[in-house]
Amino acid sequence: MTRRALLLGATGLVGSRCLEALCAGREYDAVTVFSRRPLDVTDPRVRVEVLNLEDMDDHAERFAVDDIFCCLGTTLSKAGSRGAFYQVDHDLCLQAARLGADRGARNFLLVSAVNANRRSPFFYARTKGETEADVAAAGLPAVHLFQPSFLLGERAESRPAERLGIQAMRVVQPAFHRTRSSLTPVSARQLAGAMVRVALADRPPGVYRYRYGDFLAWNHSGS
Ligand SMILES: NC(=O)c1ccc[n+]([C@@H]2O[C@H](COP(=O)([O-])OP(=O)(O)OC[C@H]3O[C@@H](n4cnc5c(N)ncnc54)[C@H](OP(=O)(O)O)[C@@H]3O)[C@@H](O)[C@H]2O)c1
Repeated sequence: MTRRALLLGATGLVGSRCLEALCAGREYDAVTVFSRRPLDVTDPRVRVEVLNLEDMDDHAERFAVDDIFCCLGTTLSKAGSRGAFYQVDHDLCLQAARLGADRGARNFLLVSAVNANRRSPFFYARTKGETEADVAAAGLPAVHLFQPSFLLGERAESRPAERLGIQAMRVVQPAFHRTRSSLTPVSARQLAGAMVRVALADRPPGVYRYRYGDFLAWNHSGS
């Protein structure tokens, strides 16, 4: 059986682990990566398309896949303004979801955040909540919303404040883990592993949410 995926955000912390997870098994015959900068990939099943993601509409045929993995995101400081942040964390994700719906994609897997809430007074949480709601309404059969709290893992770029946070989180992680709290920090690799397993499970149509305990469960599922 042929299975195809499209991955957005493959140069990022979660996206790079997703690409590894997609290539680790034999389930996927073809993985298309949309990226604004080149990536070094040797797996012959992976095709990297370098483009400005705002021009995704010009590549709509690439959305005719089984699973779309959306690991896009930025930070306010990198984006430079709320508008620019929203354009990445909301608009690009929604654009991808709509193209996927138009082209018959089955699963859309979005990395969101544990505090996503479209009624939140906080801009980040509100943006994530609005993205979740709009992606869920885009017309895809199955939408999977992954809601991590804090992500653990080595990233290529230097983010000193985040590095300090990660060190602190590594200390408290075991205590959180014992309670299976949704606030437990999770490694990007575990999150990505759960995302790929969820896609392969081909759950019935619907909107699904996954938090820390679910990430663990899906990593250990037999699917
Ligand atoms: N970090 C955390 O602790 C945490 C916690 C909860 C939720 N999240 C959410 O999880 C998601 C993934 O996080 P992450 O840490 O893996 O993100 P990341 O490492 O910053 O990666 C983000 C990805 O998005 C791409 N991207 C950003 N702006 C773009 C643009 N204008 N055009 C095209 N591509 C663009 C980046 O490409 P380039 O490499 O080219 O910039 C990169 O591939 C995000 O939505 C984030 O909000 C993160």
